[in-house]
Amino acid sequence: MWCIVVHGGAGLWSEKEKFPTIKNTILKSLEAGAFILSAGGSALDAVVDSVMVLEDSGVLNAGVGAYPNLVGEIEMDAGVMDGKSLKAGAVASVRNVKNPVLAAKLVLERTDHVLLVGEWASKFALFMGLPSLNFDRNANLLRYRDLVKKFEEGNTRYKSNLTLYKQYPELFHETVGAVALDCEGNLASATSTGGLALKLPGRVGDSPIIGAGTYADRNIAVSTTGIGEYIILLGVGIRASQYAENGLSAKDAAENIIQLLTSRFGKNSGGLIALDKNGVIGISYNTPGMARGYYSSRMSEPYAEVP
Ligand code: GLY
Repeated sequence: MWCIVVHGGAGLWSEKEKFPTIKNTILKSLEAGAFILSAGGSALDAVVDSVMVLEDSGVLNAGVGAYPNLVGEIEMDAGVMDGKSLKAGAVASVRNVKNPVLAAKLVLERTDHVLLVGEWASKFALFMGLPSLNFDRNANLLRYRDLVKKFEEGNTRYKSNLTLYKQYPELFHETVGAVALDCEGNLASATSTGGLALKLPGRVGDSPIIGAGTYADRNIAVSTTGIGEYIILLGVGIRASQYAENGLSAKDAAENIIQLLTSRFGKNSGGLIALDKNGVIGISYNTPGMARGYYSSRMSEPYAEVP
């Protein structure tokens, strides 16, 4: 059996006009992963290909569509983990890299490190031959102005921005991720993001933190979305692994984690997708919506839902 689950982020999802395009993007991403898995390919290759489709779409907060930070620049994070080998790779605060998820995979495959950051992570990606991306400065500026306006409407100072994110979930939605189970029973996870909109330059979220936003072992694979600081503080990926080790299904693990996230940090703090070695899917969030979808060898076509 094979299975793939993807998300396009938890959040408010108020812009209804975007829903059909995003749903279509989720379906394409599932098909990209299924193409690999149905041919006997690895869960790791499948999650990376699925996430690349989401990064390239320009309609989600990752890759081409990444949100700007407080000074209007793009800094992206991504992480991948292979449950079979327990190897992981991640990059944080990379710029001008078209597909941060590919850079993360290169860290896994070509280095003996787990996480590269900043300027040197971007240089590593370009040196390894990955395509660069020059962001559309006008589109970026418009998005930046729009976000600053929302930020100001929140009438808050920067130090309380986590409160603001909970008040305005549109500031953090659209991180993307995928988890997969391949025909050999191996699991993998990948997550990619532009991070919280208007974050402080240099801020790193949960997506490239292995054991928080991205995790996979022989029992479960997890990819999260939401306010990264809270996801890091709860160690969501490792927690899911412990739940699975104790016999919980991915569905129960996902629900328990979101209950805990809500009880500790309140509603509108995040969501996750999880998949276990038995092919059980977990999808849970405490925001008004989360773009998501799944596809398995037991289904005749992929399923997607937005929000
Ligand atoms: N969950 C994405 C971030 O906080 O950066």
